[in-house]
Amino acid sequence: MEKPDWGQSLMVGNKSMDLEHRLQIGLIHALDEAIRAGQDREEVAKILSQLYEYTNAHFLAENLLMRLHAYPDYQAHADEHDRLVGSLESLRRTFDSGETGLTLDSIEALRNWLGVHIQGMDRRLSSYVAENGIPVSRRA
Ligand SMILES: [Fe+2]
Ligand SMILES: [Fe+2]
Repeated sequence: MEKPDWGQSLMVGNKSMDLEHRLQIGLIHALDEAIRAGQDREEVAKILSQLYEYTNAHFLAENLLMRLHAYPDYQAHADEHDRLVGSLESLRRTFDSGETGLTLDSIEALRNWLGVHIQGMDRRLSSYVAENGIPVSRRA
């Protein structure tokens, strides 16, 4: 797997979102590397679990940001987050079944999916927040 490109392609222009994406993609990359390097299952399971927990936390943060700004596309965006969490759960199952090749394929699919999500939905959210900076509760 190529190292994620942090040039411009995955930046959305929101400081905390960019930082969280960087960590999220970094964990996917670490997972891929650990499997390829033949690290023991316990180590891989640990990274997988960190990725799962971190992704959940990141999605909660984005969902909250959308709520705070009464983001019009909330539901579709949150539904996509739910789908990704579902993919992570199936990645966990694939890993538990011991299928290394399939696990690497699933990681690649996940990374691609995340790239599309970040460049599409997350970038639109970031632009919306930048243009409508004040949370609804603080608007006059
Ligand atoms: Fe995101
Ligand atoms: Fe998102």
